[in-house]
Amino acid sequence: MSKHFRPLLAALCGATVLMLAGCGEDTGPTGATCPTGGTQLSYENFGKPFADQYCTRCHSTTLSGAARQDAPAGHDYNTASGIRADAKNIDAWAGSGPDRTNTEMPENGTKPTDDERKKLSEWLACGAP
Ligand code: HEC
Repeated sequence: MSKHFRPLLAALCGATVLMLAGCGEDTGPTGATCPTGGTQLSYENFGKPFADQYCTRCHSTTLSGAARQDAPAGHDYNTASGIRADAKNIDAWAGSGPDRTNTEMPENGTKPTDDERKKLSEWLACGAP
C-alpha cells in the first residue's frame, strides 16, 4: 500500500468500518497453532526456501548498509536460528492463521500466497523445526 494512502485509509477505517477485515493494526499475531502430531514442514523443506525466495534479499547477515533496503539490523533470516529468534515478529508481519493474514512483508517484489503464509505460521508455531 502506498504510504500516502495509509493516513486516509486509517481515518476511513476509524470513522466507519473499524470492525471490518482489513482495518485496524497492520501487523499482529495470527493465532496459528502447531497441529496435533506436529508438522511435516521443516527448515530444509520449507523455511529455508521460503526465506530465500521472499526475505533474505533484505534480511540477511551477509548484507549491510544500503543493500539491506532498510531492513532493521538484527532481523536476519538467512539461518534457522535467525528465524527462530524472530519467530513471533515474522508471524506478525508475514504469517497467516485463524485470526488474521499479515501482508506487510515482503515490502516489495513477489509476494507469498496466502497458503504459503499459512504454512509459515504453522511452521513457526511448531518451533520452526
Ligand atoms: C525489500 C526488502 C525487504 C524484504 C524482501 C523483506 N523485508 Fe522485512 N523489513 C524490511 C524493512 C525496510 C523493514 C522495516 C519496516 C518498518 O519498520 O516499517 C522490515 C521489517 C520487518 C520486520 C519487523 C522487524 C522489527 O523491527 O520488529 C519483520 C518481522 C520482517 N521485516 C519480516 C520479513 C519477512 C518474514 C520477510 C519475507 C517474507 C521480509 N521481511 C522481507 C525490508 C524487507
